[in-house]
Amino acid sequence: MTDLLTGTVTFVFTDIEGSTQLLKRLGKRYGEALAEHRKILRAAVCEHGGAEVDRQGDSFLFAFPRADDAAAAAIDGQRALAAHEWPAGSHLCVRMGIHTAEPTVSDEGYYGLGVHRAARIMAAAHGGQVLLSLATSSVLEDAELQGARLHDLGEHWLKDLDRPEHVYQLDVAGLKSAFPLPRGVERPGPRPGSGAEEATTDTADDLLERSDALSTLADSLAAVARAAQGKLVLVSGEAGVGKTALLRRFCDDYGCSARILWGACDPLFTPRPLGPLLDVAETAGGELADVVQEGGRPQAVATALMRELGSRAATVLVLDDVQWADEATLDVVALLGRRIDAVPALALLSYRDDELDRTHPLRILLGALATARAVRRLEIAPLSRDAVAKLAEPHGVNADELFGRTAGNPFFATEALAAGEEELPHTVRDAVLARAARLSPPAAALLEAVAVAPPHVELWLLEALAGDAVDRLDECLTSGMLTHTPSGVAFRHELARLAVEEALPPNRRLSLHRKALTALADPPTGAPDLERLAHHADAAGDGPAVLRFAPAAGARAAALGAHREAAAQYARALQFADGLAPQEQAELLEHRSHECYLTDQPDEALEALRSAIERHRELGDTRKEGDSLRRLASILWCPGRTGEAGEAAQEALTVLEQLPPGPELASAYATMAQLRKDADDTDGAVAWGTQALDLSQRLDDTGTVVHALTTIGTTELLAGIPDGLEKLERSLELAEQEGLTEHVGRAFIHLAWAGTRLRNYHLADQYLERALAYFDERGLDLWRFYLLAYRARIELDRGRWSEAVESATLVFQKRVISTFPRILAFVVLGLVRARRGEPDARSPLDDALVLAEPTRELPRIAPVAAARAEAAWLAGDREGVRGATEGAFELALRQGAAWPIGELAYWRWRAGLEAEVPHGAAEPYAVQMSGDWARAATLWTEIGCPYEAALALADSGDEGALRRALDQLQGLGARPAAAIISRRLRERGVRGLPLGSRPATR
Ligand SMILES: Nc1ncnc2c1ncn2[C@@H]1O[C@H](COP(=O)(O)OP(=O)(O)O)[C@@H](O)[C@H]1O
Ligand SMILES: [Mg+2]
Repeated sequence: MTDLLTGTVTFVFTDIEGSTQLLKRLGKRYGEALAEHRKILRAAVCEHGGAEVDRQGDSFLFAFPRADDAAAAAIDGQRALAAHEWPAGSHLCVRMGIHTAEPTVSDEGYYGLGVHRAARIMAAAHGGQVLLSLATSSVLEDAELQGARLHDLGEHWLKDLDRPEHVYQLDVAGLKSAFPLPRGVERPGPRPGSGAEEATTDTADDLLERSDALSTLADSLAAVARAAQGKLVLVSGEAGVGKTALLRRFCDDYGCSARILWGACDPLFTPRPLGPLLDVAETAGGELADVVQEGGRPQAVATALMRELGSRAATVLVLDDVQWADEATLDVVALLGRRIDAVPALALLSYRDDELDRTHPLRILLGALATARAVRRLEIAPLSRDAVAKLAEPHGVNADELFGRTAGNPFFATEALAAGEEELPHTVRDAVLARAARLSPPAAALLEAVAVAPPHVELWLLEALAGDAVDRLDECLTSGMLTHTPSGVAFRHELARLAVEEALPPNRRLSLHRKALTALADPPTGAPDLERLAHHADAAGDGPAVLRFAPAAGARAAALGAHREAAAQYARALQFADGLAPQEQAELLEHRSHECYLTDQPDEALEALRSAIERHRELGDTRKEGDSLRRLASILWCPGRTGEAGEAAQEALTVLEQLPPGPELASAYATMAQLRKDADDTDGAVAWGTQALDLSQRLDDTGTVVHALTTIGTTELLAGIPDGLEKLERSLELAEQEGLTEHVGRAFIHLAWAGTRLRNYHLADQYLERALAYFDERGLDLWRFYLLAYRARIELDRGRWSEAVESATLVFQKRVISTFPRILAFVVLGLVRARRGEPDARSPLDDALVLAEPTRELPRIAPVAAARAEAAWLAGDREGVRGATEGAFELALRQGAAWPIGELAYWRWRAGLEAEVPHGAAEPYAVQMSGDWARAATLWTEIGCPYEAALALADSGDEGALRRALDQLQGLGARPAAAIISRRLRERGVRGLPLGSRPATR
C-alpha cells in the first residue's frame, strides 16, 4: 500500500447485490461475470483518475482526489454495467456509496471514521443505486454531472452509525432511479427507542410453505431469460393468503438478476385509469412514462410498455391486485398477454379469485388469456395445519384452534396472533380491531385517518387529517399495522384497512373525509387528483364537491377509454344532481347514458336517457328531446327490443319534423335507415339513407354523412349492388380523416359483418383484426363483442372449429347483454357440437332461438334457423328441418336476401322439402341444388369453406369423390357427417370403412 492519496479524499465503495443468489444461479459462469464486472469498474475508475485501494470478493474500495471525478466514475460504471450483456441473461447490479473525508493514512491503508462511513453508506444502497453522503454532495453542488443529478433522500439512521446520515442519491438519466428506502432503515426520521424493533410483526422474511411457488416463479424467470421469450403468470388466491408477500419475496430474491417493475391497483370504488401503470412508468421512465402521464390510449401504453420490456435483458413486471384494476389497465394487460412472448419479461398478475363474480370485468381478460400460450397459472393455497402451528408456537397459542378459526389464512392468523387477546378472535375484523385496540389513543386516531384514504396516505395529507397525532406514526409502524410506501404510509393489508374503516363512527368518518377533500383539493405539488377527490367528496356526502369532481373524473376516464369508470363517475354525480338546473341534469344523464351504451349496459343507458328526455320535455327543448329519442332507438335495438326501437325512431321523427330541418333530423333519418338495414330491408334502408345523406350534405354535417353512407354501403354490398363496398370504404376513410371515433367503429363493424355474411374472407381478413385492435384500444366493449362473434362464425365456416369455440366463448365471458353477438356465438357453439357429434348441441341453439325470434329480423333469425335445420338433418330428423326453417325461409324469400335464401333452401332440399332452386339463392347453394356437385365443391373450396365443400362432394355418385369427402370430414372431426358418407360408400359395396351409426335423410 504505497502512493495513497492524502488530504481530502473521495471514497467509492462498490458491492455486487445478491452475489450469493447470483452465484447459485450462474454456477461456474459466476466467475466470468465477476471478472467482467471488475474490468468494467476498473476502466471507469481509471478513466477518471481514481485508484483502486482495496478489493475483497465482489467488493471494491476506490479513492479519488476529486469528488466530481468519483461521481463521474460511478456514473460511467453504472451505465456500462447496465448496458453489458451478462451471462445466461442474468443481470448484475452493483451498489455504490460515496463519501468525502480526510482519512488517516498508515502502512496498512486508510483508516478512520471516514472509510467506515463510506462503507455504511454503500451498505444502505440497493443494487444499481449510488448513494452519497452530505459531505460529498456539498462538494458536488455546482459540479457538472453529465446527465445525472442529485436527489435528496433526507436523513436516515444507518446501521452502526451514531447519528442520522443525510443521504443523497445520484439519479443517472436512463437508469433506474426509484428504489425502496435505504437498506437497513426501518423508517425515516429519529431512531426509535429501544425495544421498538422487536415489536415489529411483519415477518416477511420467513414465508412458510412457499418454496414450491417460489421455485415455479424462478423457473419461469430462468426460462424467460434463457429464451428471451416472455411469460405471464396468473397468481391467484383468497384475500390474505399471501400473494403479495410471495411476489415481494420473489422480487427481493431476484432483484439482482432482473429489473423489477411493480404496480399495484387501488381499492377505490371507481379506480383511477391506468393506476398501477403509473407506478410502473415512474420506475421505468422514458417513453413509457411520457405516454402514461399524458394519459395515452391503452394501445399506445401497451406499445410503449412492450418497447420498454424489449429494451432490457430481463424484467419482472408485477401488477398486484388486478381484481381492482380499471378498464384501461385491463386493456393494456390483455394486449400485453397476447404479445408477451416477444419480449424478455416475466409478468406476474395477482388477483383475488374469491372476489370475481360472473360479471367481473377481469373475467373476460382471464378467459382471453387462458388460451395464450405464454400464460400459466399459480394458485396460492392457505397454509397447512403444520404451518399454522409454526406461527402459533412462539405465542403459546393452541394451534388447532388457530387453524380452525383462520382456515390457514396467513393474514388472519398473523392478525389473530398480533391481537394478543386471551381468547382467539372469531373473525378477521375482530382480530384487526383487537390489535388496533392495543395502540395509544392518538396512534389509534392516526390509524383511522389512514383508513379513510386508500390506497395510501402521503405524510402531508396525514398531517392535515390527524394533526399532532402524526407524532405517533412510529407507534403505528412498529405495531406492524401500517407500512411505508414510496409516497407515504398505508395499511399493511387492505383487509385491515377495511376493518378499521368500517368500525369508524359515522361522524368521525365524515369529518375525516371532509378534511381529506379540503387537503387534496390543494395539494402541495402537482395537479389535484380527480379520482381521489371524487371519492372523498362522495364519502363526505358533499354534493357540490361531487358535482365538481366526479364529472371531470368521468370525462378523463372516457378520454382514456375507461368507459366503465366514466359511467360510474357520472352515476356518482347524478346522486347529487337534484339541486342542479334541469339542463345540467340532462347533460349528466346523457353522458351517463352514452358511457353505459358503449360498455353494453343498455338497461342503465336507457334509464338515464329516459330521464334526460323528461328534462328536455320539461324545458320544452324539442330539438334535444327528438335527438335523445333518436339515441334511444339505437340503444333499444341492442338488447333486441326492435319493436320499441322502431317506435322511438318514429317518435323522434315526429318531434323533429315540427322544427326547421337541422342536423338532429338528418341523424334521425340515418337512424331510420340503420334500423331498416338491420332488418334486411334493402329498399327501406337505401331510401331513408338517401334522405339522411341529402340533408346532412346540405348542412355540411360530416358525422351524419358518414353514418348514412355506411348504412347505404352495407345494404348495397349485402344485396350485391355494385358500389356498395366502395361507399362503405369511403365512409371509413372519411370518418378516419375527421377523427370520428364512433363512426370509424361503425364502419369497421359493418365491413366485418359483410365479410362474415357474404363469406368474403378476403374482406374479413382485411378488417376484422384491425377493427378488434381499434376497439380494444378505445375500450369500446359493445362493438368488441360483435366482432368476436363474427370472428367465431368465420372460423367455423373456414373449418377452424376449436378457434371458433374459443372466440364464441369469449363473448360469454362477460355479461353481454346485446343479443346479436350472443345469438351468433350460441349458433357457433351449437353447430360445432352438432358437427362433431358432441352431446347437447340443442341447448345453445334453443337459447339462440329465444333471443332471435322476438326481433323478427332476418339477420338474427336466419343463422339460428339454418343451424337448427343442419342439426336436425344430421340427426335424421326431416320434420325437424321443416320446423326449424319454415318461417325464416319465407322471410328470407320476401326480403330477397341471397345467402339466407340459399342456406335455408339448401337444408330444406337436403331434407326433401324443396325440389326447385329458389330465385335469388347464393351461387354455391344454387349450383349444388341444381345437381352440379363438382362445381359446388370447387366453389366452396375457392371460398374457403371445407365442410361445405366436403358435403358437396358427398352428393357425387362417384366412389373417388365420396372417399375424398370422407377424408375431409374425418379431418375436420365431423363424425356424424362422416358416418353418413361411410354408409353411402358401404351401400356401394366398399369395405374396410368404420361403421357409421347415424341415419340421414338424404
Ligand atoms: N407463506 C406465509 N407464511 C407466513 N406468513 C405469511 C405467508 N404469506 C403471507 N403471510 C402473512 O400474511 C399477510 C398477508 O399476506 P399478503 O401477501 O398481504 O396477502 P394477499 O396479498 O394474498 O392478500 C402478510 O403480511 C404476512 O404477514
Ligand atoms: Mg395483496
